[in-house]
Amino acid sequence: MKALQRIKGTDDILPPESRLWRYLYDVVHQTMSQYGYNEIIVPMFEYTELFARGIGEATDIVSKEMYTFKDMGGRSITLRPEGTASVVRAFTENSLGSKSPLSKLYYIGPMFRQEKPQKGRKRQFYQFGLEVLGTDSPFADVEGIVLNVRILQKLGINDTQLMINSIGDPESRSVYKESLKEYIKSRLDNICDDCRKRYENNPLRVLDCKRQECRKEMQNAPSILEHLNKDSKKHFESVKAGLDAIGIEYKINERLVRGLDYYTRTVYEIVSSSLGAQDSISGGGRYDLLVEELGGKPTPAFGFAAGIERIILAMDGNKRDEIMDSGIDCFIAVLDTKILTKAFELAENFRKAGLSVEIELLGRSLKAQMREANRSGAKTVVMLGEDEINRNVYGLKNMATGDQKEYPLESIPDIP
Ligand code: HAM
Repeated sequence: MKALQRIKGTDDILPPESRLWRYLYDVVHQTMSQYGYNEIIVPMFEYTELFARGIGEATDIVSKEMYTFKDMGGRSITLRPEGTASVVRAFTENSLGSKSPLSKLYYIGPMFRQEKPQKGRKRQFYQFGLEVLGTDSPFADVEGIVLNVRILQKLGINDTQLMINSIGDPESRSVYKESLKEYIKSRLDNICDDCRKRYENNPLRVLDCKRQECRKEMQNAPSILEHLNKDSKKHFESVKAGLDAIGIEYKINERLVRGLDYYTRTVYEIVSSSLGAQDSISGGGRYDLLVEELGGKPTPAFGFAAGIERIILAMDGNKRDEIMDSGIDCFIAVLDTKILTKAFELAENFRKAGLSVEIELLGRSLKAQMREANRSGAKTVVMLGEDEINRNVYGLKNMATGDQKEYPLESIPDIP
């Protein structure tokens, strides 16, 4: 029978690469708690309307990338393409705003978008992200961006650039849209078909089109930063001052508008030069109107999400090897199957003392067992045969130095 294959755009994460994922998850959980964020776990599917209203009908995500289907009751359901809309829904549905003035939440898990798969672009991909709801302080933006940068630093990702912009509030934006449309109007013949559509529905998106012809035409487009009203300008100045104070480097990119409709004021992206076409590692911004637009009480908010596949791709080679090579503390080589029970007792004693231990289960020769221990990256190998048991000892070999020593059978060894 023909073996079945996985769906295009999905991945099996196999060992030892799964160790990188485990390591990343640990760093994310640790850093989020360090900054006072609590994990929220929301469903992986929602009513389609949530994303359509939250992310925006005209966006690429909603108009062409969602996995949408009818359930048995005939309701339209969508696999979540991102986490923000779901978190906002959960925030309102569970009245989190009335339980506490500030909600600092984070999540980690799979998202689904029907995009054309390529390096760093999957149909099921994983994000971690945070959402802070209940404050319009620019320092919430700064804290979120800094946390994002720190996680990347801890993961050994060095070749990144942080780009920030402000797309203002609706008032500033509607003035800007007019002057941008005026600028694009005389250039409509020279831009791509998609951008001609964007000109009608969402002219800001013409600014970040990747096509060469559009980039060229948009070179001298008016800047949104010159159209910010007093409040939005002040907010942006404070975000920059906050980042400066902590020594976080950034570049102002007036063309950065992001592909989701809910943003107001601050937007940002972190890109990595090692990734090729899909160079955006993470992105986010402020969304002060979304909670209200989804039926909740007016609640200012900020958040970001980072793509885990892209982070793993951008991880420094040495750091990757170091994490993937980190093996168990001890491999117990069994020299004679007759003493297997004793060997198991020893393994359990070691494990109770907190060591990670593997024991030979295939009855192989000592040579093959040593090869296996080497391959698995075990730090030490215990050698146990009838002779050792009769003498009430076990032999321990340090795999890095080759040193060998005997220990009393009931003792726990010091692992280097
Ligand atoms: P986003 O820019 O759509 O923002 O996605 C964030 C990150 O997810 C991207 O920078 C990228 O690393 C990763 N990503 C997106 N699509 C794919 C894909 N098809 N394959 C692999 N990785 C992908 C959001 O999702 C917003 N919810 C961020 C946010 C949170 N804004 C406010 N709060």
